[in-house]
Amino acid sequence: MTILKGRLLQECLSKLYYSSKNTESNRYPKKIFSGIQPTGAIHLGNYLGAISQWVKLQDQGEDVMISIADLHSMTLPHDPRQLSRNIQEIAATLLSCGINPEKTILFQQSKVPVHTQLSWCLGCICTMPRLAHLPQYKEKSKDLKDIPLGLFVYPVLQAADILAYKGTHVPVGEDQIQQIQLTQDLARMFNKRFGETFPIPHALVTGTEFAKLRSLRDPAKKMSKSDTDSKSRICLTDNITDIQRNIKKAVTDFTSEVTYEPDKRPGISNLINIHSFVANKSVDEICREAKNINTGEYKLIVSNALAEFLKPIQDKITHYLSDTVLLADVLEQGREKANDIATKNWNEVQCKLGLNMDVKLANRIKNI
Ligand code: TYM
Repeated sequence: MTILKGRLLQECLSKLYYSSKNTESNRYPKKIFSGIQPTGAIHLGNYLGAISQWVKLQDQGEDVMISIADLHSMTLPHDPRQLSRNIQEIAATLLSCGINPEKTILFQQSKVPVHTQLSWCLGCICTMPRLAHLPQYKEKSKDLKDIPLGLFVYPVLQAADILAYKGTHVPVGEDQIQQIQLTQDLARMFNKRFGETFPIPHALVTGTEFAKLRSLRDPAKKMSKSDTDSKSRICLTDNITDIQRNIKKAVTDFTSEVTYEPDKRPGISNLINIHSFVANKSVDEICREAKNINTGEYKLIVSNALAEFLKPIQDKITHYLSDTVLLADVLEQGREKANDIATKNWNEVQCKLGLNMDVKLANRIKNI
């Protein structure tokens, strides 16, 4: 009951947050924009925190754009062949998760030049201390001797991703909130200095625990692609053996009952959250069903439910990966549509920034 109250309250609060903030963006048509880095296989955190929201919004008839943020994947040393494979795999996985290119514009970030052009312009109004405060930068740079400039400035590129399309809503997991706040700040600064141009975009974060799915090895941390321990996550492409091994190794605690207590028992509660999503059951129902079994037995049930949920997605991934012509075609069509929108907005930005020659003035000079 307390859990339900907590969840309902969270959902109401998040709805209130969005609706009150919405007034600022009312003059712009609603445009949903989000992105994902092709840095490795998509995991359950990406799926529950972001992709499932994208599919829902798309199916509700919203105007959705999803970018495969390949330029973001270069902020740390990368293998070009692996990146190219990852782009294909991410495209195949997104389609398999339900992204429909007839409804959603799915495209590769690097193929639309406006992202980097606008990023430069926003970089000129952004300050270094503002970027140095961002937690993701602090986290990723803490063990590096030589910090790549790209790692420092990538939130500006992310702001450009969103603003290039005048995105108004950005469905993301909890870890992206600070980056969206930076986007809001940059949009406000730009509008103030150069005239009303951009909406103030808002993060759409699911009002549930899915906004930050936890690592299986350390429930204090989020599930992450960059975690060096592959047992910390479940990827959408994992086979039953990987799933069983990772769930079996998932850190819980010394209590053998299956109870949902996110604060006191984050490990087992994380598994219950995952189970609840993939089996489409409520947390209460799951706890009732697991009343007479221990966590070891419960882990097996979660593994099987996960494998069953992932099987149709995995079959589709295999299908799409066997048709790379189709994948390239989908991304090309997405690029064309994205490029048209971004170019129109970029023309406006250039005018505002004084990057276009004043034709009347040029003609007058010519005629002197
Ligand atoms: P990325 O690739 O790290 O993650 C993609 C999406 O998955 C969400 N996510 C999670 N949600 C819940 N629990 C987790 N454990 C978890 N891990 C990841 C992320 O919040 C994200 O929504 N910088 C972005 C990509 C990006 C972007 C953009 C996003 C580039 N341009 C413009 C929005 C708008 C990133 O690295 O996401």
